Amino acid sequence: MLKKSLSNFQLDYVDLYLIHWPFGFKEDADPLPSSPEGYSDVDYLETWEGMEECVKLGLAKSIGLSNFNKEQIDRVLQNSKIRPVVNQVEVNPNINQKDLIQFCRERDIVVVGFAPLGRATLSTTISTYPPATVLDSNVIEIGKKYGKTPAQVVLRYLLSLGVCVIPKSVTKSRILENFNIYDFELNEEDVKYLDSCNKNWRVSPMAAYKDHKYYPF
Ligand SMILES: NC(=O)c1ccc[n+]([C@@H]2O[C@H](COP(=O)([O-])OP(=O)(O)OC[C@H]3O[C@@H](n4cnc5c(N)ncnc54)[C@H](OP(=O)(O)O)[C@@H]3O)[C@@H](O)[C@H]2O)c1
Repeated sequence: MLKKSLSNFQLDYVDLYLIHWPFGFKEDADPLPSSPEGYSDVDYLETWEGMEECVKLGLAKSIGLSNFNKEQIDRVLQNSKIRPVVNQVEVNPNINQKDLIQFCRERDIVVVGFAPLGRATLSTTISTYPPATVLDSNVIEIGKKYGKTPAQVVLRYLLSLGVCVIPKSVTKSRILENFNIYDFELNEEDVKYLDSCNKNWRVSPMAAYKDHKYYPF
């Protein structure tokens, strides 16, 4: 699979290669199957062995996990020759993942936070998404104090939790905006407000697969 991607990208190797989810689907099934017939019961430890092989072959410099819970992370650590360097999970003020971040830190694993903006305005059009904190009137007010946008306030807050953030935008001005967060610090009161937004709400629970044996949440 990685060899095929490298050929598509016209690359010799990738810096980082992740297992996207601890659960898998059959190779000939729909990429997001609508029934359990499409589920694969391949253990993610077997997948991890394949990931280690990618490093040995020089196809990936580092390997990591995504959407793994604590027990699954420890199971990988106890059964691996090459350690995962990151766990990429959803992190935004609605789900700040403080506990998992601390757990990963104790194991030298960096947490990469996906959907850091809670999918922003998209969250207003998809009914299952929690309202994104970039649209919260208090966060908008906090931003005004610092001359920053709500997205910048949220990204600054997430950096202070010790995660890497990967906001996505196809808009040049927003890409620049999302980088421009290193010249201010949120005060204690504002951090406290953002902490209070934590409700363990996910935009990406993948709840359709909650009966898969390796479902993480
Ligand atoms: N590992 C996983 O399971 C997993 C799951 C989901 C996502 N991800 C990854 O995480 C990354 C980001 O996640 P995401 O795209 O789901 O969510 P996100 O980054 O929280 O939100 C992206 C949305 O926010 C908008 N946006 C970006 N910057 C903004 C700003 N400064 N102000 C207002 N709106 C802004 C974007 O609009 P425009 O693009 O129109 O500017 C887009 O609609 C992606 O690279 C994705 O591949 C990983």
